[in-house]
Amino acid sequence: MPENTPAELPTNTAIADASSGASLSSYDRARQRLIVALDFPTAESALNLADRLGEQCQWFKVGLELYIAAGPAIIEKLVSRGHSVFLDLKLYDIPNTVASAVRATASLGAGMLTVHASGGPAMLSAAREAASVLATPPELLAVTVLTSMDHEQLKATGMNCTPQEQVARLAQMGIDAGYRGFVCSPLEVAALRALTGENGVLVTPGIRPSSAEQGDQKRVATPSHALGVGASYLVVGRPITQAPDPSVAAEAILLEIAEALGFAPSY
Ligand code: C5P
Repeated sequence: MPENTPAELPTNTAIADASSGASLSSYDRARQRLIVALDFPTAESALNLADRLGEQCQWFKVGLELYIAAGPAIIEKLVSRGHSVFLDLKLYDIPNTVASAVRATASLGAGMLTVHASGGPAMLSAAREAASVLATPPELLAVTVLTSMDHEQLKATGMNCTPQEQVARLAQMGIDAGYRGFVCSPLEVAALRALTGENGVLVTPGIRPSSAEQGDQKRVATPSHALGVGASYLVVGRPITQAPDPSVAAEAILLEIAEALGFAPSY
């Protein structure tokens, strides 16, 4: 299987590890592209799964549910086990408060952290500046339009444009504020990749292996498709966490990613 040269990336150690070697096997590179969403109500259940997948999976996503239930200690526990953490808090507040939150969360060792692009240029800049002075800054990812927002929902909030137009506007705003990382659905990856170029870090949920249930995800894609159109990282939750054997499910997805990396662009 041909090997791609991995994307050249960040100052952040966790992400730098993920892109560090043309010498890595396709399987090892696949391990660094997969983020397992730990959507659990307790630290115990989350760590139980992380330990079951510990040999296979490098990245875990901690979202609001787990963060609120388990507290910041969950991040330290995952990091102390050698894992990388995508902290999906979707920060949105006045610039000063978001900057303070970035400083507070960064000391926990998260490799990636989300903020809402719709917080505006001043908020995005304040978050970026706060991160930039940290010893090991997380890669800040801007969330554009939530996938739950369709045209009607946007209109209700006063925005008379399509989600695609709003995604493009917010992404450009993020780029102007010095961001290269975005969270986006598989349907938006190609457009965002065109905006960011090869330096962009595009994290994509809504991934389903062809054999899996869609669940409540409407805008989904297979791992191969998402990588083929330019995704850097794939977030997978229920197809792994709710599988009869999560380790078997993760393995199938890793093999699918490894195969796709043989011909997908290397971001
Ligand atoms: O279980 P599933 O694979 O659908 O999980 C996807 C994860 O990605 C969940 O944690 C979900 O909150 C998150 N997510 C998403 N769509 C977005 C942003 C985040 O599904 N636009």
